[in-house]
Amino acid sequence: MSSRIALVTGGIGGLGSAICRSLAQAGRKVVAADLAARSERIDAFRAEMDGLDVHFAPADVGSFEACGELLRSIEATQGPVDILVNAAGITRDATLRKMDPQQWSDVLRINLDGAFNLCRQLVEGMCERGFGRIVNISSVNGQTGQFGQTNYAAAKAGLHGFTMALARETARKGVTVNSVSPGYIDTPMTRAIREDVREGIVTSIPVGRMGHPHDIARTVAFLTADDAGYITGANIPVNGGLFISF
Ligand code: CAA
Repeated sequence: MSSRIALVTGGIGGLGSAICRSLAQAGRKVVAADLAARSERIDAFRAEMDGLDVHFAPADVGSFEACGELLRSIEATQGPVDILVNAAGITRDATLRKMDPQQWSDVLRINLDGAFNLCRQLVEGMCERGFGRIVNISSVNGQTGQFGQTNYAAAKAGLHGFTMALARETARKGVTVNSVSPGYIDTPMTRAIREDVREGIVTSIPVGRMGHPHDIARTVAFLTADDAGYITGANIPVNGGLFISF
């Protein structure tokens, strides 16, 4: 059987690249979609993935048309996408009283609309083929809220609702839809938090440290396995105990 095709958005980012590696090591053919603008990072990513079945594809997940083109070009060259990981995400942190409309809409467009733009154009094919795995990368801050992140928390909480609703729509067709909610993971995104703020957050994590991108990647590999078909509509927190709930 030919290997399943996985599309990872934000694929060259901190979490995305670890997810690409894990899925390729699990035998998937991986397409990492990300903005084309970051040429140095693309070169470094290609070097990191050397020897693995991972390919880069430029795409802006914030554009419905670009997502359609991306899916059509993957289907034409490699085959239809079986596994979608919506990991593209940005922060534009500011308290609400200082947040401008652009900071609001950029975060909603990439972090929430991006999942719609791809799922909307992919889910029907997955259902027809009788197999699909969708994982939306949310955040602990979509569960708890965070000071300075009304935009990000709204988008990430929105992803939970999106995940649960879509899981119901596709459950009978072999397509699972789940979310993973990372806590504070050591990536360029968390390194950009002001140092004193970051140190305060790390102190409050029960495990006593930030997570590693691999902690998220191994969870995604678990949820996207061929035999994970009975897990759907779930959210898996991977946060070092930062938010413990049931
Ligand atoms: N909690 C409580 N009070 C805070 C605060 C916080 N985290 N940050 C600032 N304040 C207080 C200040 O002490 C100050 O109080 P006074 O007015 O009484 O002096 C007031 O709020 C300052 O308000 P400002 O609007 O001026 O805030 P600021 O510009 O100083 O800081 C901020 C705003 C940069 C957004 C800062 O709050 C911050 O960095 N917050 C954390 C954001 C964060 O965790 N981002 C995570 C990014 S990574 C990620 O998101 C990945 C993931 O999924 C987990």
